[in-house]
Amino acid sequence: MEGKLYINGEWIGDELEKINVFNPATGELIGKVPNGGQSETKFAIDSAYQSFSSWSKTTAYERSGFLKELYRLMLTHKNLLAELITLEMGKPLQEALGEVVYAASFLEWYAEEAKRVYGQTIPASHGNKRMMVLKQPIGVVAAITPWNFPAAMLTRKIGPALAAGCTVVVKPSELTPLTAMKITELAHQAGFPKGVINLVTGNPTAIGNEVMNNPKVRKVTFTGSTKVGKLLMAQGANQVKKLSLELGGHAPIIILNDAEINKAITGVMASKFRNAGQTCICGNRIYVQSGIYDKFVEKLVEETAKLKIGNGMEAGIDIGPLINQAAVDKVNMQVNNAIDNGAQCLLGGKQNDSFNPNYYPPTILTNVTQEMIIMNEETFGPVAPIQKFETDQEAIHCANDTPSGLAAYVFTDNLTKGMKFVESLDYGIIGWNDGAPSAAQAPFGGMKESGIGREGGQQGLEGFLETKYVSIQL
Ligand code: SIN
Repeated sequence: MEGKLYINGEWIGDELEKINVFNPATGELIGKVPNGGQSETKFAIDSAYQSFSSWSKTTAYERSGFLKELYRLMLTHKNLLAELITLEMGKPLQEALGEVVYAASFLEWYAEEAKRVYGQTIPASHGNKRMMVLKQPIGVVAAITPWNFPAAMLTRKIGPALAAGCTVVVKPSELTPLTAMKITELAHQAGFPKGVINLVTGNPTAIGNEVMNNPKVRKVTFTGSTKVGKLLMAQGANQVKKLSLELGGHAPIIILNDAEINKAITGVMASKFRNAGQTCICGNRIYVQSGIYDKFVEKLVEETAKLKIGNGMEAGIDIGPLINQAAVDKVNMQVNNAIDNGAQCLLGGKQNDSFNPNYYPPTILTNVTQEMIIMNEETFGPVAPIQKFETDQEAIHCANDTPSGLAAYVFTDNLTKGMKFVESLDYGIIGWNDGAPSAAQAPFGGMKESGIGREGGQQGLEGFLETKYVSIQL
């Protein structure tokens, strides 16, 4: 597949040098996209800036119509989109189909929410005054999206931005640009006016620098590593650039003695092994109370051993490859560090030579301790380290003892205990007996170093609106 840039309603960039896109399951070359840089990004920003004046004046009902059409087209082409996701990032086809439906749901939800951007009137303290609050679109938005959910993270950003009346420049991960290109093609088909949506692929540093330094970009929404998020914050300081950051996580899963074991196993399997563990809200460390520990470990090993690893394009696969060799090296390093420091490996832990080197098997570690790297750093792989605990306080302390604060999970059927954990955990998202909390209508985002702002839900739209206070003297 030969990709292009999409700027001002036209597909361009044939003359540019190309970036190769590989299938992580086979190592095969599956596409080439332009290596856009500073001047292409500037062109895309100019085009978004020009179209902002008319797009921001359309009615919410008009914008809703375009979003609904894109939603419809995504579902009509869901099989093709799912295949592209699997080909360029490796997740099993069934999971990729789930991602497309999830991705489309942001467009549907924000098509409705666009009509509910309400302002406010405020009682004035003088009889001759009237006070009101207007909500207006923030302006040109740059959306920098990651490789682990190439469809859903794009629509989670552009859905609310477009609904609010903003225009966008999208920069997908250079590892997975093909899905973004297909969605952009569908947006073109949906009839969005030229310049409202622009897509630039290429060198992340060159594109990022232009986005951060160009004053026409009023908001940057980014999903990716905490390291890059901090860099963007520093770069944006000069212009006080508005930022939404959805950064790394290090989610604890806490299983209490009174948890319903099957519910806990189902939740942990969903949270830990979805997308081969390459999800920001994946359970990264599992704390199990002593009274349920043996039973839980035995059952988790039994269920995990059933997971089928392989090329996601084949039927019945649960675990695809990791995105690349660097990802495998990181997982290997964390597992080896744990084992060298006394962890016991009950399952997996070693790569199988019959697979290509991007595969890492589902792995379960016990006897882990808080000092090990795996208990302190995000893994982004299918490894479940399990630590035993005695008291609620101990679990809460271990869970919160991290600079991350994206998602946490607690499994208990005790209402009072459950609420105590929900209120004590310093995380933006809590799954209580639920290993898959994400939804278009709910706010997604983190505390501490896991980010700024929320995506999804009413809060997700707020991030693309300015609040303007107007005082009128009669
Ligand atoms: C992410 O990994 O950042 C997204 C996961 C989700 O939306 O559930």
